[in-house]
Amino acid sequence: MKQTFQLRDKIPTDDGWITDIATRLWGSVQIISKEHTYNIVELPNCIGELNGKPVGFVSYTQGGGSREIVALYCAIENHGIGTALIERVKETAKTDGCTSVWVMTTNDNTQALRFYQKRGFVIKAVRTNVMEEQRKVKPTIPLLGNDKIPIRDEIELEIRL
Ligand SMILES: CC(C)(COP(=O)(O)OP(=O)(O)OC[C@H]1O[C@@H](n2cnc3c(N)ncnc32)[C@H](O)[C@@H]1OP(=O)(O)O)[C@@H](O)C(=O)NCCC(=O)NCCS
Repeated sequence: MKQTFQLRDKIPTDDGWITDIATRLWGSVQIISKEHTYNIVELPNCIGELNGKPVGFVSYTQGGGSREIVALYCAIENHGIGTALIERVKETAKTDGCTSVWVMTTNDNTQALRFYQKRGFVIKAVRTNVMEEQRKVKPTIPLLGNDKIPIRDEIELEIRL
């Protein structure tokens, strides 16, 4: 039987763990999205916990009546934690008066494209070849991503609330 998990807001002791994961997965805590650079430990984050230990997080920001998921990660996959984290973001976004939630991913992240589309997000825009520009700001963005697919494009997905 799968163990149950809890969701909670980020506390300062989560910062080191989030920093380690972000550095390993994305080169640093700085995430670039549509020309904005965010430090994800400075953003609001919701944490997924299993047996009292953090195993997942979602970082988000908002503006113009919509909320953006800036980063999402789960160390323990296929327990429903990723789904619960985005559901929490949607619920709180609605309470805060947002009419949509959007997220940016890269063309190599077929797992994320599958994950978001199966949860009702639709592709809103594809910004081709923008990663080359982003590498000038953040040189740690690798040339090859998941399954050794060249990282070239940003894909924006959105769900209406
Ligand atoms: C994408 C990611 C966040 C998904 O997180 P996750 O916690 O594994 O997501 P879930 O468990 O909610 O869903 C994954 C699968 O597990 C299945 N699942 C969910 N709960 C389950 C349960 N209780 N029992 C069995 N399977 C379950 C779901 O059906 C889902 O499969 P589906 O996509 O075919 O529907 C995670 O894979 C990840 O961290 N990836 C790397 C970072 C990344 O790419 N982030 C997104 C960039 S913005």
